[in-house]
Amino acid sequence: MNVGIIGSGGREHAICLSLKNSSKVNKIYCLPGNAGTYSISNNINVDINNFEELKKTIVKFNIDVVIVGPEKPLVEGLVDFLQENKIKVFGPNKVASQLEGSKTFTKNLCKKYNIPTADYKICFDLIETIEYIKKSKFPLVLKADGLAAGKGVYICKNFEDAKSAANEVFNGKFGEAKKILVEEFLNGEEMSFFVISDGNNFYQFGTAQDHKRVFEGDQGKNTGGMGAYSPSRLESSNLNNKILNKIIKPTLKGLSDLNTDFQGFLYAGLMIVNDEPYLIEYNVRMGDPECQTILPKLKTDFGEIIEACINKTLNMIKLDWHEDKSLCIVLCSKGYPDKFINNIEIENLNNIILQKNEYIFHAGTRNEKDKVFSNGGRVLNIVIRSNNFKNGREKAIKIINNINWSNGFYRKDIGYKVIDK
Ligand code: AMP
Ligand code: GLY
Repeated sequence: MNVGIIGSGGREHAICLSLKNSSKVNKIYCLPGNAGTYSISNNINVDINNFEELKKTIVKFNIDVVIVGPEKPLVEGLVDFLQENKIKVFGPNKVASQLEGSKTFTKNLCKKYNIPTADYKICFDLIETIEYIKKSKFPLVLKADGLAAGKGVYICKNFEDAKSAANEVFNGKFGEAKKILVEEFLNGEEMSFFVISDGNNFYQFGTAQDHKRVFEGDQGKNTGGMGAYSPSRLESSNLNNKILNKIIKPTLKGLSDLNTDFQGFLYAGLMIVNDEPYLIEYNVRMGDPECQTILPKLKTDFGEIIEACINKTLNMIKLDWHEDKSLCIVLCSKGYPDKFINNIEIENLNNIILQKNEYIFHAGTRNEKDKVFSNGGRVLNIVIRSNNFKNGREKAIKIINNINWSNGFYRKDIGYKVIDK
């Protein structure tokens, strides 16, 4: 089959490489892709927010199956649009994508199906929010509803913090705000838990831990993710069963009661408190950079898995994994997540020779002939699969030192909880 991958990040480059190694896949197109996907597939420069243009491109290039990487087109209903046009697609529909697109949708589902999550209240204007937080215990968490690229969440230590956060949200920092979520602060350790589903059957698809804050020691602003490792140190069969039974299965039941299903990757962001899982948020896609750590561990042909999801026959195949540890460090443009400059050449990149189980997945890059230039805040993902996280991190840092990119910075402490304990 010919596959089209929508997106241009490290996640999409990792998906592209897994499909490149698949016996089921003929041609791969990345829409629009980056310099990394350019080197192993065909990039097509198309505006992924323009569904009609996307459809024309998919038809023109005889793409049989589309895989949607990022959340925005999913939440905006790209899957429904393509299906209405008889195009096969891997990813959840618009109703199911509300799990990521609307925090209040997910909270209401949690309440109805008794899914453990932080206690919360939905407030509809600034006055109501301030009255409520006056009576609340701190720390507490304020969240803008809707997609905010991971930036609409405030952990507030006191009333003043919370008031100023509520002001920002209702003043439209994340788009028009009709409501805000005020949430109990959960004190535990985070874990990302992934599932792949064909709409009828699902499998667990690994666990990971990412590092969202920009500076070492998990300090500074939230980012899209500065690095990740898989598996999470919290993973155990007992905890997995609790997550599946208390969180994943009731969620899928909730969608089925809405007369829909979930086909695609489901990513549960969890807080583990005393070995009990609480749902913090859902994403309706793979994590980035978690995906870059998980896919290199997959032994089963990824093209076969996607095909089985499209045909609703996921139960007919078995997923096999390498038992290794996988760690990713993200090399970013100086200044990220605030202002940074683009179009700085990464001169040494083409001289790097990777060993087995070492990967460089591109994110914000573009190519001009044989040269690679930066084109975003998160630029490269260096991933190492090995039998030990410490080795993995050392090797990744060595590769970054060899790339020696003057406009780059990265966190040297990725995986500190599993390495520097
Ligand atoms: P979210 O975008 O909902 O994943 O939130 C971003 C980050 O805020 C999470 O990764 C957590 O670190 C933190 N967070 C969100 N909700 C809570 C909560 N109820 N208690 C503690 N930390 C939270
Ligand atoms: N790494 C966090 C995310 O993909 O949302």
